[in-house]
Amino acid sequence: MVHSPKIDQLLDFISHSPTPLHATRQLIALLQKNGFSQLRIEDDWTTPGPGNYYVVGNHSALAAFTISGTPLAVSGLRLAGAHTDSPCLKLKPNPTRQKNNILQLVVEVYGGALLSTWFDRDLSLAGRLSWLDEKGELHSGLINFQRPIAIIPSLAIHLDREANSKKTINKQTDLVPLLAASEDECDFTDILRQQITQEHPKAGVKEIVGHDLFFYDTQQPAQIGLHGDFFTGARMDNLLSCFTLIDALIHAPESLDSLVVLNPHEEVGSVSAVGAQGPFLSILLKRLQPDSVKRQQMLARSLLISVDNAHGAHPNFMEKYDQEHLPLLNKGPVIKWNANQRYATDTVTGGFFRALCRRAGTDAQDFVMRNDMACGSTIGPLTAAATGIKTVDVGVPSLAMHSIRETVGSKDFLYMADVMQLFFSLDPQDVLWQGQQQ
Ligand code: CO
Repeated sequence: MVHSPKIDQLLDFISHSPTPLHATRQLIALLQKNGFSQLRIEDDWTTPGPGNYYVVGNHSALAAFTISGTPLAVSGLRLAGAHTDSPCLKLKPNPTRQKNNILQLVVEVYGGALLSTWFDRDLSLAGRLSWLDEKGELHSGLINFQRPIAIIPSLAIHLDREANSKKTINKQTDLVPLLAASEDECDFTDILRQQITQEHPKAGVKEIVGHDLFFYDTQQPAQIGLHGDFFTGARMDNLLSCFTLIDALIHAPESLDSLVVLNPHEEVGSVSAVGAQGPFLSILLKRLQPDSVKRQQMLARSLLISVDNAHGAHPNFMEKYDQEHLPLLNKGPVIKWNANQRYATDTVTGGFFRALCRRAGTDAQDFVMRNDMACGSTIGPLTAAATGIKTVDVGVPSLAMHSIRETVGSKDFLYMADVMQLFFSLDPQDVLWQGQQQ
């Protein structure tokens, strides 16, 4: 059985992070517990002194960093990035619908969800609300119903004889969760008001004026398999990487300069104020090194490891993979390659990561998409394009990506944790770090 306290910490983190907002809040608490203090973009500061810091963007993007005091133009930064969001179902602004005696909530699909997996699951709801108090002041806060409050039942096979051979899903009509059986008129904002008052007793809610609420599966993530070889759970893509990076940074030496950036909105293209195509990281890098020439020196001496789950080889669907590139579960981190820059890896950064894996006691595997299938992408190429930092795209091999319940290898998580720990500990004189600077 694969055992490690880190495994319990990861599964606990994922189960308490039903949305990117909750994940960010959890990680901030972890950073604070380990001596990281907050800097705000709205305050007047540049080049902070030696220490551990974090910056939050719109409650959903997070950058955490350790500053050693060595001039950044000389030392460069060890950077790592991941995304906090996962495909799911988001409540529409006016969500209630009454059909016969059933109260339902209408939703939009967020990102490229594997929709068939959302049927027949015990769903709960979490996210952020905005409200006005008695004085007319505007507030916002997170809520999480925690208990299962909704379900999207499948249509019985007797009413759809071709369900196993020709099933299609209409996003508008088929995916409407059932909330309650009731003939009475329902004021959904009343339900939200009760929930926010329960979780924030001093909220003083007069009127709810907006919500970003997302459904999620209440089944807890778990370590499964005869020998505990797999993790299954929601949002492994990419909360596993988010946790790995923050945990590695917390344990990184304070004598080196390291930075982790976590962006939302990757699953919807990353174009937003806090997505990887937005200015969040660039603004922070300018604050760290305001002089533009020195900043260029810093960026030229930096390297970014972009960590996002990769496609592992699924034994039931081997024809879907390039046969010379088959990432296997529990055989180590995957380097992602794409000739057309859908991944940012090149031979220098990919070679660096492979050598890093070897030194950490594992082997790196390689992934390329088949030429006759479209290749996905991630935050790596976007961050590289926005900042000019050389980048490698990597991730743990996973199965059922974008399902409501994804599967990864438990050893791969520990391998990746070791590799990232080593990355943040590389001395400036180390031959590996020196090599990537040539
Ligand atoms: Co991902």
